[in-house]
This record gives sequence, C-alpha cells and structure tokens, in this order.
Amino acid sequence: MDKLVIEGTRRLKGAVQVSGAKNACLPILAATLLSDEKCVIRNAPALRDIATMLRLLKALGMKTTADGDIITVEPTKGRKYLAPYKLVSTMRASVCVLGPLIGKMRQAEVSFPGGCIIGPRPIDLHLKGISSLGADLSIKKGYIIARAKELHGSRIYLGGHFGSSVLATANTMMAAVLAKGHTLIENAACEPEVQDLANFLVRMGAKIKGHGTPRIEITGVKKLGGAEHTVIADRIETGTYMIAAAITDGDITIKGSRLEHLTAVVDKLTEAGVGITEVKGGIRVRRKRNLSPADVTTLPYPGFPTDMQAQMMSLMTVTKGISVITEKIYPDRFIHVSELNRMGAEIHLEGASAIVKGIKALSGAPVMASDLRASAALVLAGLAAEGRTDISRVYHLDRGYEKIEQKLNKLGAKIWREKEE
Ligand code: EPZ
Repeated sequence: MDKLVIEGTRRLKGAVQVSGAKNACLPILAATLLSDEKCVIRNAPALRDIATMLRLLKALGMKTTADGDIITVEPTKGRKYLAPYKLVSTMRASVCVLGPLIGKMRQAEVSFPGGCIIGPRPIDLHLKGISSLGADLSIKKGYIIARAKELHGSRIYLGGHFGSSVLATANTMMAAVLAKGHTLIENAACEPEVQDLANFLVRMGAKIKGHGTPRIEITGVKKLGGAEHTVIADRIETGTYMIAAAITDGDITIKGSRLEHLTAVVDKLTEAGVGITEVKGGIRVRRKRNLSPADVTTLPYPGFPTDMQAQMMSLMTVTKGISVITEKIYPDRFIHVSELNRMGAEIHLEGASAIVKGIKALSGAPVMASDLRASAALVLAGLAAEGRTDISRVYHLDRGYEKIEQKLNKLGAKIWREKEE
C-alpha cells in the first residue's frame, strides 16, 4: 500500500488543469449500456473508480478502450445483466448500472451496495424510481433482481429524508428514457453531474426536458444510438484546489473549470476572505485579507456540497475564530475530524455539526485517510502544516483525484508517494 508524504508550509503558485468530473463520468459510462452503437466519452479522468466502472462494463459484455482521456465503449454480442458483488462492493456507484440494464434488457441483477465509511447509504429511492416504471423488484442472496415485461412512464416523487438523490435520479432517468410514454421525476437532483448525464442521453436520442431543475420530464423512445460527449470539469476537484490556494496563502489559477457550478463554495470562500476571480485562461484564487471564520451547512445542489465539507473544515482549522460546519447530507461524515485533531486542530462534534476553533498552525503528523474527500482534507491540512505529514491508505485519494502529487508539485508543493511498511 502507498502513502503520501507532504512537507508543508509552501505557498502554492501557478496554474493547474482540472480533470473531467468523476461523478459525471461514472453514470455516463453506465448509460452507454443503453445503446447498441459505439459511444465515445472525452475528458474522462484516469481514476481508480473509472477503471472499476470499465471492468464492470466489460463484465456486462461491453468492449471498452481507453486512449488518454478518451474512452470508447461498444456493445458485443454477449451482453449480460449481472453486476457482481466483487465489483459493486469496491465501488458503490456501480449501482447506477441498474437503471440502464433494466431499461435496455428488461432485466438486471445488481449486487446490493452496502453502507460505507461516510455512513449508511440506503438505495430505497433507486428502487422506488425503477419500480414506479413497472419493474418487479426483489432482493435475493444480496442481489437486487429486477425484471420487467415492459416499462411504462410514470409520475415519480424522488425525495428522501435527506432531500434529492443524485444517483437515484440518474438511475430512474436512465430507465425511463426507454420506457413507454411520459415520465415526470419530481424532486430530481439538480447537480451538474445529473445535467451532464441528461445531455449525454439527449445526444444518444433520448427526449428529456427540465434537467438541472427538480422536475425532469422524459418521453420514452424505442431505442438510443451512439454518441460522443465531453465530460464536464470536476467541480469538487476545482473547489479542492481553491482551498489549496487559500490554506497555503498561495496564488493559483485553475484552468478548465466552470465557476457557475461552484456558486455556494465561492460564496463561502469569499465570506472567509478568499478572492476568486475569472481571469483569462482560468479562475484565479488567492487570499484577499486575513481569513475569517465561516459557518457552512451542506445541502443538495446548488447548496454547499457535502463533497467539499471536509476540505472546508481543513481551511477553518487555521482560520482564527469559531466556525460551525453542519452536515445535512451524510450526518456521520466526520471521520476526518479525529485525524485533523491529531495535527493539532481544535474541532469537536455536536451531533451533525463540527465546531472548529481556528488555531495558528497545524503540525505535521502521521494520519490515516478514510474516504475520498476526508483524504483530500488531510492533503490540504498537510500542505499547511509545519513539518512532515504522512497520509496512509492513499488509495482512497486515487479514486477521485487525478495525478494529485504531480499537480500539487507543479504548484510548488513538496509531496511524494512512498511504499508503506
Ligand atoms: C453522489 O452519491 C456522489 N457519488 C457522492 O460523491 C456525493 O457525496 C453524493 O452524491 C451527494 O452529493 C457519485 O455521484 C458517484 P445521494 P449518491 O443519493 O448519489 C440519501 C464522492 O466523494 N439517500 O445523492 O449515492 C443518502 O443517504 C462521493 O465523490 C436515501 O435516503 O448520493 C444521502 O443522505 C461520496 N435513499 C442523500 O440521500 C436513497 O435511495 C443524498 O445521497 C439514496 C440516497
């Protein structure tokens, strides 16, 4: 297993290119299952989760080839409908093959994904969406078994205890595009990744309106063709580099991203004293003044993303004053708190809120990465900390941040990978 080592307190300067969005690319790759023709996906990030999705597509009888950031997916004659435990258990997002499989093949057997380190992750909304379209569902031997003679359009309310669901919206939309008649998804997720998936489906010939709003309307078509698509930039990677600039008192230009996907993050960083401006060739980020505390509550898009909560917390650990960070999507997503405290941070938890008392400086320490975004938070903390930080279990980071050491080193950080004893 690899670990990352960081020698902190270097100001980051220069330009960084953001990769394609993992969470857009994953359902888009799953959507290729709906077509009988070749699909070409551009700006695909080279990440462990994408490699897992390609293995899953292969297991489902698709031929995949990757050339740089271009992935081509073609159906073969041996299409299958079983998504095995061994793949689904390594990546929860594998569940988003359920919609396209039932949509296209009228049958699917998908391993039931478990919870994960960020807390329980139910799939009731996925099942509600698919069954509303007329599929029979049962759970047998740890698998979701879905069968349908025919799928029909329906009016579906996809709201849960924590609001809308990104992948349940994706799954329902992917099943509905080949259902007979009209489907209305209410309380649909509005995340840019859902919009990107819908745009890809439209390119394949689907009839979808209202994506990007809580009301998505779909008119089923008989079949979908092949399509080419360029995946949107990763807004979470962008936000992470914004915080890298702020936490190191650096000056970074982020290339290839779209500020309109980050309104809530920009709003909170601006409140904290970070200057974010669109310049020729990118988004420039640097401190405008001494940082001040900010209270943050995570919410579905366009609210502050849960996938940026841990990174924002790292910034607040070195911001004088008290910040309150409340998690409304995954109330248990605080696994990074104890690790940040090992680095000298002063954070205590009160239910689903973290009270952060800013200190002058973090001190480098051996810490353990637990989930993807918690790992990113530890990297950010390590960049700001005095001395050496060793982050073990770095494979979590490889799931979602393309070439992170190369990108950070180019900005002037000192970060490298070592084998763990
Ligand atoms: C997506 O997960 C992302 N993953 C997550 O990113 C992200 O944290 C999350 O959306 C929220 O933005 C991918 O896109 C691959 P949800 P998803 O269903 O779709 C509850 C990362 O670090 N819920 O929108 O699985 C759920 O428990 C990852 O890149 C139900 O109650 O998340 C949560 O409280 C981690 N029933 C809320 O909805 C359901 O059937 C939102 O989750 C489904 C979800």
